[in-house]
Amino acid sequence: MILMAMSVHAMSQSLPLIPLPKELQSQDGFFVFSSATAIRHDRQLAAESGLLAEKIRRLTGGEARVVAEEWRIHLPSEIVLDIDSTLPLKNGGYRMTVAEAGVKIIGKDAAGAFAGAQTLLQLLPASAPMSTKEIKVPALRISDEPEFAWRGMHLDCGRHFFPLEDLKKFIDQMAFHKLNVFHWHLTEDQGWRMEIKKYPKLTEVGAFRDSTPPYGNRNSDDGKRYGGFYTQEQVKELVAYASARHITIVPEIELPGHAAAAIAAYPQFGNTDIPNYNPKVMTRWGVHPYVFAPKEETFAFLEDVLTEVCELFPSKFIHIGGDEAPKSQWNQSKFAKEVMQREGLKNADELQSYFIRRIEKFLASKNRSLVGWDEIQEGGLPKSATMMVWRDLKWAQHALDLGNNVVMAPNAFAYLDHYQRSASEELSKGPEYEAIGGFLPVSKLYGYDPASVARNEKERKQILGVQAQLWTEYMKDWKKVEYMAFPRIAALAEIAWLPKEKKNYEDFRARLDGVMKFYDALGIHRAVPLDPPKKATKDGSLIETSLSIYNDHAIEFAFDGRSDTFFWAARELKKDDHITLRLKVPLTREATVKVETGGKASKNGDRLEQGELEYSLNGTTWIRVAPFSGGTAIGKIPAATKMLRVRVTAPQTFWLILHEISIE
Ligand code: ACM
Repeated sequence: MILMAMSVHAMSQSLPLIPLPKELQSQDGFFVFSSATAIRHDRQLAAESGLLAEKIRRLTGGEARVVAEEWRIHLPSEIVLDIDSTLPLKNGGYRMTVAEAGVKIIGKDAAGAFAGAQTLLQLLPASAPMSTKEIKVPALRISDEPEFAWRGMHLDCGRHFFPLEDLKKFIDQMAFHKLNVFHWHLTEDQGWRMEIKKYPKLTEVGAFRDSTPPYGNRNSDDGKRYGGFYTQEQVKELVAYASARHITIVPEIELPGHAAAAIAAYPQFGNTDIPNYNPKVMTRWGVHPYVFAPKEETFAFLEDVLTEVCELFPSKFIHIGGDEAPKSQWNQSKFAKEVMQREGLKNADELQSYFIRRIEKFLASKNRSLVGWDEIQEGGLPKSATMMVWRDLKWAQHALDLGNNVVMAPNAFAYLDHYQRSASEELSKGPEYEAIGGFLPVSKLYGYDPASVARNEKERKQILGVQAQLWTEYMKDWKKVEYMAFPRIAALAEIAWLPKEKKNYEDFRARLDGVMKFYDALGIHRAVPLDPPKKATKDGSLIETSLSIYNDHAIEFAFDGRSDTFFWAARELKKDDHITLRLKVPLTREATVKVETGGKASKNGDRLEQGELEYSLNGTTWIRVAPFSGGTAIGKIPAATKMLRVRVTAPQTFWLILHEISIE
C-alpha cells in the first residue's frame, strides 16, 4: 500500500510546477522524504528554512527538523538551503538538485533560495497522504530565474474590505507561485482603508459608506452601512508577513481622483468653491467627480499621509493612482484656475501633471519612486515615474519612448474582474457570480506577452514586469475574490516568470490540473478553467484552405461540431480560393449538405458573396452541389462522396465567416 501510494505521485508525467522552471532535467531515482528528513541551511536563510519546514510538516505530516549550517552533523536525509551570490543567474534565481542523497537548493540570494523552496513544495503531494509519511520526489536538476522582476498581483480593498487573515492566505498563495509584488489598493471613492494617525477622520468617516449596489443590479442600493479599515499595527503585520515571503507590498493612495472618501472626511481639501459642493463616501461604482484641490493645505495633507505610508511600507515604489481623475471640478473652480494661471499651466491636464510632479518630488525626498496608472502622462509624464499601463498599449510605447519604466497591467489581458467563462453560464449559477463584464479565460491571460511592446533590448529592460488586477466592485467576500483569482493566478505567474519562448499552453494546462489539487486541498473556491476549443475536426476528417486564417479562427472550426467556434478568413478572397474537406470515411448513403457563411461576429456579416459548393467521389472530378445564395449553399450529395469543397468564384473584399459544414 505504501509503495503504491508513493509511486502514483512519483510517476506523474507532468510535474505540477507553475511557473515552470526555466531549465529542468529529469534524472533517475528519487529522494525519499521521511520523518528523519531535516533542513540544513545557511545562517542567512533561517527564516526561509523555517517557512519551508512548516509547509513540509503540513504537506507530509512529517517532522522536518531545521538544523543550522554550522551544525555540520551527518544528516541521513537532508534538504540543504544555501546562498551563492556568484551564481550566473538573475536576482531571485536558484539552482536545485533532487537526488537520492538529498535535495540541494542554492539561491543567488535569499529570494532565490525561497523560490527554490516553493519549487520543492510543488513537488510534494497536494495534501498529506493518509497511509504514509514517506513521500518520493523524482530526481531532477533545475536552473531557474525570473524573466521579470515585477510579478504583481493587485487587490482593491477600497470597494470591498477583506480581513487581514484572508490577505495573509493570499500572500502565501502568491509566494507559492513566485509572485513578488502585492499592489495593495487602499483608498477609493467608496472607502479609505488605512489608519492615518494624523487624520483620524479618514477612517472614522472615510472608511464607511451608507449603501452598496447588490449583485444583479449595479444601479441600485442595498441601503446597508458598510465599511472597515486596517490599523497601522495590522499594516505592519502584513508587510512583515509578506516580506518574510519575499513579497513587496506596494501601497496605493489614489490622487487626485478616486478620492471622494478622503474628501468626505476632510472637505477642506476638495474644490470647495464649486456649485453644489457636497462630498460623500460614494455608494455607487464608476468614476466620480470629487478630486483633490491643488491647494497648499491639500499638498501638506497628502505629504503627511504619504509620510505615514512611507514609514509603514519599506517598498521603493509608492503607487499614487492618477487614473480616472475627471477635470470637471478643476474647470469649475476659480481657485484651481488661478493655480493654472500662476503656474503657467495651459489646461486641467497640465494641472494634473503639476499635481503628480509635486508628489513625485516629495516621494523622491523620501528616497521613494512614484508609480501611477497610465493617465499620469496627461499633461506630461514625470521623468522618474513608472507607468502602470492599464488601457491601450500605446501608452506603454509613449512611456518607453520617453525613457520611463512600465509595468504592464492591461485590462484586455490582466483584469481578473472580467468573466473567465461565458457570462450566461456564470450568471446561471446565481447573481453572486456577476462580474463587471469582459471575457478573460485563463488561455487569454496565458497568451499575453508582457514584452510585446518592446522594440529592442533597451525597451525590454524598461518593462519591469506584469501584474493582474482584482478590482472588487463585484467581489463582496473572500470566496468571490478566490473565484476570480484562481486559477488565473497560475497563468499570471507563468507569463511573469518564464521567457516567452518556453511558454506552451497545452503543457501549462496539464500542469495546472496538478496545481489545482493544491488549491482544492486548501479549500480555495476556484473556478473551473475554460479550455479553448481544440483545433481539430469532429471526426478526424481533414480540412484545409487556401484562404488566410484570421487569428485563432482555425479552419478546423468549420467542421468541429461546435456552435461557439467558427472559421474566419481575412480578405482578400480570390477567385478559386477554396475550403476543402476530405471525409475520414466516405458517405455510406445520400445526405444533405448545408454550408452557411456569415455571422454576427462581424458587422459586414462576412458572407461568401459568390461561390459554389462541390463534391467529389475521387478527389479529381468535382461536381456542383449548389451555388451560394444569400451566403448559404444547400444540396444533396450521393453515397461514396469523399470530398467537399467551397470554391470562391469571384474576388471578394469582405472577410469570410464559416461556422459549420453540416452533413445530415
Ligand atoms: C483602472 O482600472 N482605473 C486603473
